[in-house]
Amino acid sequence: MRTPSDAPSRRRAPRAPAKPARDPAPSARPAETSAGAPRPDFATPDERVRVWVGDCRERLADLPEVRNSQVDLVFADPPFNWNRAYDKWDDALPEREYLDFTYAWLSLCVRALRPGGALWVNIPDDWAAEIVCFLKGRLAERPPAPLTMQNWCVWHYRFGQNTTSRFINSKVHALYFTKDAASNDVGGRTWNADKVLEPSDRASTYNDPRTLSKRDGMPAGLRVPMDVWYGRHWGRIQGNNKERRPQHDNQLPEVYLARVVLATSNPGDLVLDPFLGSGTTGVIAHALGRRFIGSEFSKENAQRAFARILEGPIRAPDAPGEPNPIFPKRAAGPRRATGARSVAVAKR
Ligand SMILES: C[S@@+](CC[C@H](N)C(=O)[O-])C[C@H]1O[C@@H](n2cnc3c(N)ncnc32)[C@H](O)[C@@H]1O
Repeated sequence: MRTPSDAPSRRRAPRAPAKPARDPAPSARPAETSAGAPRPDFATPDERVRVWVGDCRERLADLPEVRNSQVDLVFADPPFNWNRAYDKWDDALPEREYLDFTYAWLSLCVRALRPGGALWVNIPDDWAAEIVCFLKGRLAERPPAPLTMQNWCVWHYRFGQNTTSRFINSKVHALYFTKDAASNDVGGRTWNADKVLEPSDRASTYNDPRTLSKRDGMPAGLRVPMDVWYGRHWGRIQGNNKERRPQHDNQLPEVYLARVVLATSNPGDLVLDPFLGSGTTGVIAHALGRRFIGSEFSKENAQRAFARILEGPIRAPDAPGEPNPIFPKRAAGPRRATGARSVAVAKR
């Protein structure tokens, strides 16, 4: 995972070439399909997973699925412009250039989405405001269609880079937008609450009987996760974490992608990730029976990501949600009134 304050110590990567990286596929196959679409550089025999090497803005633009708006879910975790030593990509662009790059790939993703499709963007404080305003159509630069914001989630992790002159960063934003769907209207968008439920604090911590007779349609004791995401297996992928892949310090946890893919796509759907990195989105999408397309600027990253997608995840992506209360479990006991509220009497 990137952290802002360790970025300046990293070497500066070379500026991205104007043209995408050379097609590395060592095959004699034509570079295009008969339909004129660029051939993937890596693909499973059944083509349920396809990966292109190069700049997403160029490599994905001519795909029929993108041109014809057939993608059900896009997940994008772009370079943050923190001067990280990516294999090839220049991660220290002038601000204007970075924003132009951002608006270009966002536009491509918006175009790729089917009506009702979902776009998720993983982005730090630095750029979240610009991205939200752009996608809502509130800037001079506009996406092909304004999107509806469904959630502004936060991925909260412990062990952010230590700082003493300001508060320590411990989050990245997970922005959830949909195309052509009115806010709160599940209608055209995919929303599988039942696939991502977790034990509520009322059930796991407070022994509150009201959780057993809820009227919100959710099973007893369970809730839709809150919009701040943390808990076991939700930390940054570092140290001896079982999920950690060599040569990658920007990997997202599998549980993060599992929540996104399960909640906002269905088996058989088409999932797109323009910035593969170590391939986490592809790993989870493939394991959960979705079709997957992705791009990666670095050939070596793409190769490793494709291999990882075939290997599959470390953790079961459809495992039931775990409780994540921030207070210890209260002892069950008689309740007594204090003012207007009733609280359990804790046994010490
Ligand atoms: C933050 S990482 C993605 C990490 C990924 N979510 C994971 O879990 O491993 C961003 C990736 O985007 C790649 N990249 C940067 N610019 C790109 C571009 N224009 N087109 C395609 N890939 C690009 C970088 O090489 C890097 O591997």
